[in-house]
This record gives sequence, structure tokens and C-alpha cells, in this order.
Amino acid sequence: MTKRTAPRNRTLTLSEEDCRRLQPRLVTLNRPCRLGEILGRTIHQDVMEVFDLLPEKCVDLLIADPPYNRRKTFHTITFHASEEERYRNWLEGWVSKLPRILRPAATVYVCCDWQCSQTVYTVLSRYFRMRNRITWEREKGRGAHSNWKNAHEDIWFATMSDKYTFNLDAVKVKRKVLAPYRVEGQPKDWSEETSGNYRTTHPSNLWTDVTVPFWSMQENTDHPTQKPEKLIAKLILASSNEGDVVFDPFSGSGTTSVTAKKLNRCFFSVERDGMYCLLAEKRLELAGRNPAIQGYEDGVFWERNTTPHRKKEE
Ligand SMILES: C[S@@+](CC[C@H](N)C(=O)[O-])C[C@H]1O[C@@H](n2cnc3c(N)ncnc32)[C@H](O)[C@@H]1O
Repeated sequence: MTKRTAPRNRTLTLSEEDCRRLQPRLVTLNRPCRLGEILGRTIHQDVMEVFDLLPEKCVDLLIADPPYNRRKTFHTITFHASEEERYRNWLEGWVSKLPRILRPAATVYVCCDWQCSQTVYTVLSRYFRMRNRITWEREKGRGAHSNWKNAHEDIWFATMSDKYTFNLDAVKVKRKVLAPYRVEGQPKDWSEETSGNYRTTHPSNLWTDVTVPFWSMQENTDHPTQKPEKLIAKLILASSNEGDVVFDPFSGSGTTSVTAKKLNRCFFSVERDGMYCLLAEKRLELAGRNPAIQGYEDGVFWERNTTPHRKKEE
């Protein structure tokens, strides 16, 4: 039976024709590969089979959004919550493979929630220089009956060495000024624009301006833990330059690859579920036609609901 959807529902789906057309784009590795063979590609495979086949020192920026230590079904495969030690060993199994494929000035970001954040820190800090923990507001889902509603996630920021890319100007945040202060009649650190008064500020490690994809957003898919393009855009713009190689070992619906493409970075990713690989490919196809990233316009990140050329983000 065809699923009935609301008229404004823009959730991206795959038709049979999409699957046939996009399937040949997927790659599977069975021998060590050259970078040129995988750039721009989605590798359809268990990432544990892939790490040792990737070229050495080929990645400038790694963004990993692995399964968190909780029960979650990703299409046909369910990831189960386990003892902390077991999850730590699982993390160790792939984090230990990263230094070989990263360039000396590379950056690593790993997403997590409050329950596995400490474990991720423990494992990452064995291999990398820990720089910061970003916390972002994830305003989605129902509240709990006898607990605080979980409304945030973390992203650990680590680097291979003390030499790394950080493009501060590329990730400034544009905020509406509520109390415009003037000195001798002139705006102090803000500017008057036709759509209002704004201040461009340094980004902190607390992000409250990101909207989790939902049904009326163009980037939305049925992936259960899809990350917002705006969130990933901040990481990519801050920690890579145009032409750099961005790698996502747990690609899901392809948000990292899609955002990297929109921002003129090179990319490749791995995902073990075939349907998610195809969704990523469909998003990549669309990104070629429309490189817009919701909430990022005119080179700045706008607070939720303040983008001047759109009526509303939500
Ligand atoms: C948290 S989701 C990533 C979501 C993604 N950031 C997005 O925006 O769509 C984790 C993904 O990793 C995939 N995955 C889990 N274990 C894997 C493995 N061993 N190899 C490759 N992919 C794996 C799952 O199928 C799932 O789609």
C-alpha cells in the first residue's frame, strides 16, 4: 500500500527507478584502493572491512556519527545497548584505525549523547589531542514521565597534532540584537539591515541554532538519526578548506557527504545499509542542482527563524 503523506511533506524517498539508477554508483572494496577510486563515492560495506583497505594519510577531516550506546534500529539492523566496557571496546576497534588514514594536520569530530560521551572521550583521548566538546540543542521527541527531556547531544573535537585548520571567520553566527546599544549615536558591534538589527559573533561550543530535520524540510529522510546539514556545515567550514578530503565512516543518509559536496570539499563515506547508501546518492544528486544549506546564507549561520530571505525555517 502506498504511504499517504501530508501535502507539504518533503521527506525524500526512493522510487524503484531511483534505486536502479543509483545502485551502480555504490562501491564495495575487496583490495587496497587508491583515493581517486573512492572520492565522491558511498562505500556500501561494513566499515570494519574497509579501514585497512583505505590509503594512508588521505583524510583531512573525519566526521563520525556512530551508533550511540542505546538500542536503535537502522533499517534492517538493530544496534543494541551494551555494558560500558563492551561499547568502549567497540569504539576502540575503529578509532584505533583512524591515525593511519588521517593526514598529520587532520581533525576528528565524533558525535555522541550524554550516556556515551565519557566513553567516547576516553577512547579518543588515547589517540588524539582533545580540543573541545560541542553541545548542541536537539529539540525533538517526546518528554519523559520521570526524567528531564533529553534535548542535547555532544560532538567531541580532536586533532592529530597542534597544527590544524580552524577557519573562525567561516563559522560566525548572525544574531538578532534585542537591545541595540549605541555609542555617540552609532551602533556598537552590530549593524542595521532592512530586515532588522544583527550582530555577527564568535561561535561558542553551545549551539542552539540548529533544527533537527523534520517532514517539511527538504533535507529530511526516513533515517532515524539524521543529522542537520547546518550542524555538519559548521564542522566542515571550521575544520577544512575547499578541496580537502572529508570522510564519514557511519554515513547513514549521507549528510556529511552531501554537505561536503555543497561546500566544495572532496568526500567519501561508508554505510552498511544499502537503502541508506541509495538515499545518500539521491541527496548527492540533488545537491548538485541545489547547493543551499538551510540556516546558512550569505556566508553566515543565522539563528533559527531569522534567515532574511525565508519567511520561516520551521
Ligand atoms: C547515527 S547513524 C548516522 C546518521 C548520519 N549522520 C545521517 O545524517 O544520516 C549511524 C549509521 O551507521 C551505520 N552503521 C552502523 N554500524 C556500521 C558499520 N559497522 N559499518 C558501516 N555502517 C554502520 C548505521 O546503519 C547507521 O545508518
